Amino acid sequence: MEWLHYMLVESKQEFLQQSQEQLAATANPIVGSRVWVEDPDVAWIDGEVLEAKGEVIKVLCTSGKTVVVKASSIYHKDTEVPPSGVDDMTKLAYLHEPGVLDNLRSRYDINEIYTYTGNILIAVNPFIKLPHLYDSHMMAQYKGAAFGELSPHPFAVADAAYRLMINEGISQSILVSGESGAGKTESTKLLMRYLAYMGGRAAAEGRTVEQKVLESNPVLEAFGNAKTVRNNNSSRFGKFVEIQFDQRGRISGAAIRTYLLERSRVCQVSDPERNYHCFYMLCAAPPEDVKKYKLGDPRMFHYLNQSNCFELEGLDESKEYRDTRRAMDIVGISSEEQDAIFKVVAAILHLGNIEFAKGKEIDSSVPRDEKSWFHLQTAADLFMCDAKALEDSLCKRVIVTRDETITKWLDPEAAALSRDALAKIVYSRLFDWLVDKINNSIGQDPESKSLIGVLDIYGFESFKTNRFVTGTPFVV
Ligand SMILES: Nc1ncnc2c1ncn2[C@@H]1O[C@H](COP(=O)(O)OP(=O)(O)OP(=O)(O)O)[C@@H](O)[C@H]1O
Ligand SMILES: [Mg+2]
Repeated sequence: MEWLHYMLVESKQEFLQQSQEQLAATANPIVGSRVWVEDPDVAWIDGEVLEAKGEVIKVLCTSGKTVVVKASSIYHKDTEVPPSGVDDMTKLAYLHEPGVLDNLRSRYDINEIYTYTGNILIAVNPFIKLPHLYDSHMMAQYKGAAFGELSPHPFAVADAAYRLMINEGISQSILVSGESGAGKTESTKLLMRYLAYMGGRAAAEGRTVEQKVLESNPVLEAFGNAKTVRNNNSSRFGKFVEIQFDQRGRISGAAIRTYLLERSRVCQVSDPERNYHCFYMLCAAPPEDVKKYKLGDPRMFHYLNQSNCFELEGLDESKEYRDTRRAMDIVGISSEEQDAIFKVVAAILHLGNIEFAKGKEIDSSVPRDEKSWFHLQTAADLFMCDAKALEDSLCKRVIVTRDETITKWLDPEAAALSRDALAKIVYSRLFDWLVDKINNSIGQDPESKSLIGVLDIYGFESFKTNRFVTGTPFVV
């Protein structure tokens, strides 16, 4: 399998580290030459060498400041680069960090958010809508155009992958990487849209396969994405979409694999983040649904009100609910199944509102008050299980040994932990079930010889304090 790399950056490039170190070591600035100097405010600033005495270099920066730096920490500036930058980084005389960042900025300033480095595409998130870049006219332009002939674009990457697959018969993969909020998921959707365009059928033949593939995105985002500090629609799971093609290059099936959904978020959110989108959209569902699930204001629910963020600017949750249900219709989830899915989502919210107090036995627990009993009963109704069985599963632990089965009471603290563990496991099973359901509905093509895989990981984040609990999704 060959790999086409589609990388997304917001800042420093690790892969350039090596060439940068080599260049720094060979830098031999002479008086009057243009160089890049590290700056605490703007990362890198260019300037002119005023004095060069061995390792000590005096530079007059364009900001007017004069700095004295070590020769090994400065980089030559390529003075031949046009003000609007170059569309392929390999055209730069010096491929070092300041040169690369300067080129990306020059292009970004003129709304050119994509740049190549050979066959790697680098995207800088514009954070504004640029619809003209992605319309069907654009797709038609990139169809069959040689890689590098037109402006850098995700469609060009998808087109190159598609053509390599058709012409050489070799399966392809496109890797999308970058830090959280860089634009990976948006780019993945563009890649998938282009592949659906290339491998789609005529309207008369029915478009179900590619439509299902595309509509799987909003469904998975509703259940696997959440607002974080860095991104209002952050993917909290990894996703590998394998699109299968038949002999004629038409999409004949697809398989979606997901990785490591962040379970801890289901019962633990901190300001200004949010839980998974589906919880809020369900609270904003039409009144008959809200009544059916005994929901209401998201502020009522412990799993949501640990954070003060409930709404997202510019997002209408009731519309999101309708759109998610419509997308579920398209991917082949029946309306009864949709009801069952949302029942589980609502049950998790009710589960979170069960609080525990000390019971009669030593170190035992019981639901604390009327309110907790109400939420326990509602959760049991929605899960369609016996309320007593649910209560036992929260307040007791069953230990099976070789000879006997022992039932142990849990104290209120342990019962709350067991409640959270249940919420997390149920949610992650629901997510896995959704993925299986989508895969079964799209269907696999066992005859398919070639495929294109698109990997959308969830972006790395760096916190002041990095802990397993916030960063890793595999803590139950
Ligand atoms: N090409 C684009 N045009 C306009 N806006 C964009 C584009 N790419 C990304 N964005 C904006 O940036 C936001 C974050 O992008 P996205 O969700 O794709 O990031 P991500 O890299 O997948 O992050 P995470 O790792 O947290 O999932 C989007 O919701 C959108 O507002
Ligand atoms: Mg994402």
